[in-house]
Amino acid sequence: MIDPDDIGYNTTDNPSFSTMVDARLSRRNLLRGSFATAGGAMLGSISLAACGGGDDDPAPPAAGLKLGFNPVAKSLADAVVVPAGYTASVLYRLGDPIATGVAAYKNDGTDDPATYDRRAGDHHDGMTWFGVGANGRWDAKASGRGLLVMNHESLTPVFLHPAGRTVVKGQRTVPSEVVREFYLHGVSVIETTKGSDGKWSYKQDSAFNRRVHTLTPMELSGPARGVDAAKTRYSANGTRTRGTVNNCANGTTPWGTYLACEENWYGYFYRTSASDDARRSARELAAIKRYGVGPQEFYGLWGTTQGAADAEQQDTFDRWNLDVKGEAATADYRNVHNTYGWVVEIDPFTPDSTPRKRTALGRFGHEGACLGRVEAGKPLVWYMGDDARNEYIYKYVSNKNWDPQDATGGLAAGDKYMDDGRLYVARFKADGTGEWLELALGKNGITSSNAAYGFADQADVVLHARLAADAAGATKMDRPEWTAVNPKTGDVYVTLTNTNASSRPIDKTDAANPRFYNDPKGSAQTAQTGNPNGHIVRFAENAGNAGTTFTWDVYLFGARSTAGADVNVSGLTADNDFSSPDGLWFSQASAGLAWLQTDDGAYTDVTNCMMLAAVPGKVGDGGRKTLINKSGDTTRTQETIVGAKPGEKDTQLKRFLIGPKGCEITGIAESGDGRAIFVNIQHPGEDTKDADIGDPSKFQSHWPDGGSARPRSATIVITRTDGGVVGV
Ligand code: FEO
Ligand code: CA
Ligand code: CA
Repeated sequence: MIDPDDIGYNTTDNPSFSTMVDARLSRRNLLRGSFATAGGAMLGSISLAACGGGDDDPAPPAAGLKLGFNPVAKSLADAVVVPAGYTASVLYRLGDPIATGVAAYKNDGTDDPATYDRRAGDHHDGMTWFGVGANGRWDAKASGRGLLVMNHESLTPVFLHPAGRTVVKGQRTVPSEVVREFYLHGVSVIETTKGSDGKWSYKQDSAFNRRVHTLTPMELSGPARGVDAAKTRYSANGTRTRGTVNNCANGTTPWGTYLACEENWYGYFYRTSASDDARRSARELAAIKRYGVGPQEFYGLWGTTQGAADAEQQDTFDRWNLDVKGEAATADYRNVHNTYGWVVEIDPFTPDSTPRKRTALGRFGHEGACLGRVEAGKPLVWYMGDDARNEYIYKYVSNKNWDPQDATGGLAAGDKYMDDGRLYVARFKADGTGEWLELALGKNGITSSNAAYGFADQADVVLHARLAADAAGATKMDRPEWTAVNPKTGDVYVTLTNTNASSRPIDKTDAANPRFYNDPKGSAQTAQTGNPNGHIVRFAENAGNAGTTFTWDVYLFGARSTAGADVNVSGLTADNDFSSPDGLWFSQASAGLAWLQTDDGAYTDVTNCMMLAAVPGKVGDGGRKTLINKSGDTTRTQETIVGAKPGEKDTQLKRFLIGPKGCEITGIAESGDGRAIFVNIQHPGEDTKDADIGDPSKFQSHWPDGGSARPRSATIVITRTDGGVVGV
């Protein structure tokens, strides 16, 4: 199966070296093959001026916080491995019932499709634990009772039906299978409690329990509400849509609501391109192409489904087919893709509330939306990655300043802060500074006469944020995944999971995406070239949430610990080496403690995916470095700025957990006191072949149920045997 986020749609030639100085250095690099001496010295002097002094040695913010466990070894076992002194228990598996009267999951593909709107979805991903106070409302300090809210990103189809998907001549012919898949996407809200024995469970009959899925009605909110481009057969006035898909990472608000982000949504739609192209305007086609919407379809041919029970059900299948069919947009689903690609706000404390898609935060392949520092009287900010190769990093800043009285405001507070604000995209410069470029009509080249796409108004800008960011000259990144903010320093971290040589060749490195190499593999796999192990960039705002400049460095480079110094740039050891960083989240209970999770396909000859604990330092705690990149006979140098290596200046990094075979580790949350953490194990056994569904001995994994069971995505809860705070 193709991983849609491995495909890039950014064909602009946006330079990463975007200033005169940058361009000059780039040419030097090309001509001389090396500028380590002359260029390096020059960059150093620029850095001192631009960063406002360069030689202060930042005080180690990590001081005092110590990781309190022995690291676990890399593993290829079909098991969850945690350090000695810790217990990992399974809490919430694919198919588990969340309402009274719903039977236990048989897990053989025969469970009644109509019950899946009251069962755990598949592919558990980003999540948040919201403490519940005695009054039944949100209480950030509560520790024994909370609502666990999580995304269900996607599916492992081979295990969902009796024998995989039924597809005849390229069409889905069993509607009930498709209904099951609709329900298995979206979001879960479940009430969790800690028993008097210290064990955690979810409450099957809680009135808070809820599934949001692909059929749940949603409101469009903000600038793109009610625009012509959002009008469909379902919503003639363009104010509503049905459901959410591919919810990857997540986010929170200061008023206790949850943000589910729509990542590879475009992979669910298809078009019959030859006939459809002729019925669309050049502008529509430019937008469709930039977002990768059709004609490819990656996720299950939902729009081909035949044999619906009635016209109403057929409509739920037809809406994945974008072909222009009728006279008017309200007669078909030519525009429905414009109602996806947003950040979706859900109020878990009001189970019958209608989720709102917050369009002011822009439309792209949203990985997550991390809330920045919250201060009374200051604007709120969310940081966001667009997860596809060569895409960008964004932030949204509210126009209204934060009023702590809105902490109980629910979705109305969302209307106030998230429907009215400014969207920015990041440009990283070689000198270690960066700029936020505002995506607003009339600014930064975003005009009606823009050559690639002429923008009509601000709604058009947020709808086509990628095209606006192209025009503004944003920096292409090595696949931005999670964003995370260190509560101790305010530094913002962005995982850049990996890229390959065809997406970002050796002559397209830049200071913030600096590495290019060949990753040798074990006998079972082929070598990967580019930046297959990924890295993590971080930055400090120079003027607070609403500021427009920042200072950056590379916090960590993923690598095999056995790799050479130009690949293992961060000096990783056997206790902390990793590849393809994805999930990244800072504990709120233990300020300064970070959790890093991997979604890897490169180091998998040696280890399953993992989670590490980190105590990072801060931006600027390392220094400049010249990397020597190699591709065949070509050698090129690249200047960059690297943070302190783990172990230097009180920084720490240790491997905490390994997952079972075929999984990724993604999504983490904690109880209010930090004595329990919740971690998602996504798609164990996903490399099992469709043809092997009848032979359990050939399943890649049987986790978590063991024996000959089909594997299931699941949430685990991890506690310390002595009841202490996890990780430290
Ligand atoms: Fe769904 Fe970007 O991982
Ligand atoms: Ca992810
Ligand atoms: Ca990923």
